[in-house]
Amino acid sequence: MAGKTSAVEACLPRHVGIIMDGNGRWAKQRGLPRVEGHRRGAQVVRDVVRWSIDAGIEQLSLYAFSTENWERPGYEVRALMQLLKVMARSMVGEMVEGGVRLRLLGDVESLPDDAKGAIIRACEKTAHCDRFDLVLCLSYGGQQEILAGMRRVLAWALDQPDPALALDGLTVDGFRHFLWRAELKPVDLIIRTGGEKRISNFHLWDAAYAELCFLDVYWPDFSQDDLRRALDDFASRERRFGRISEQLQ
Ligand code: IPE
Ligand code: IPE
Ligand code: MG
Repeated sequence: MAGKTSAVEACLPRHVGIIMDGNGRWAKQRGLPRVEGHRRGAQVVRDVVRWSIDAGIEQLSLYAFSTENWERPGYEVRALMQLLKVMARSMVGEMVEGGVRLRLLGDVESLPDDAKGAIIRACEKTAHCDRFDLVLCLSYGGQQEILAGMRRVLAWALDQPDPALALDGLTVDGFRHFLWRAELKPVDLIIRTGGEKRISNFHLWDAAYAELCFLDVYWPDFSQDDLRRALDDFASRERRFGRISEQLQ
C-alpha cells in the first residue's frame, strides 16, 4: 500500500529484543540433536535482520547466550560458541552491504578467544554502518548488567568531591548511562518465542516498561508473519507509563 501509513508504521517499536527460545525442543520433536536446533535457529537470525529492516525497526537485540547458559552441558556450550564464530565470520559481508552495525551486549571477556575474536572483528568491520543496529546479547544477564553498572557508578561517585551528594543526585535516566546499554535505545518490545512466559534475565532495566509478547512458535520456525503479528500487537497497545489514557494526547 504505497503512500499510505498503516497503523503499524505509525506505532512502531524502535528497539525490539527477542528471546530466541525453543531450539532444543524444535530438534527434540524431530528426533534431532539439540545442536541441530541451534543451527536452524542461527539461519533464522539472518532472516529476522532483513525482516526487521523491512519493517522499519532501528535496533534489534537478540538473546543468543545468557549468563546462565554457561551451566549447560560442555558440548552444547562449545557447539554454540562454534556456531557464533562461524555466524560472525559469514555474516560480515552481508551486514556491511546492508548497512547493519553489529554491537555486543554482555560479558564479552568470558567468551572463548576464537569466538570473541571473530565477533569483535565483525563489530569493528561494521562499526561505520548506520542503517540498522544488530545487538548480540552474549554471555548476557540483566542482573549482571545492573551489578556492573552499580560498580561503575560507585567508582564515578568516589571520584567526585562529595561522593554521597553525587549519589543522592543520581536519577534513573542518569544511572542508565552507567549500564552496558548506555548507547542503545530503550527496548520498546520484547518478543519471546518457545512458549515460556518469563524474561530469563533479559534486558531487565528496560523491561520496566517494554511491551511483552510471548509466542508459542519455536525459534527455528519463527517467520516474517510472526514478526508482523508481534508488531501489530505492539501497535494495538496503549503505553501509559503510569499515566491515564486522557493524559497521553
Ligand atoms: C534457545 O533455545 C537458545 C539458547 C538458549 C542458546 P533453547 O536451547 O533454550 O531451546 P529449548 O528451550 O531447550 O527448547
Ligand atoms: C533464554 O532461554 C536465553 C536465551 C534464549 C539465550 P533459556 O532457555 O536459557 O531460558 P530458561 O532457562 O528457560 O529460563
Ligand atoms: Mg530454552
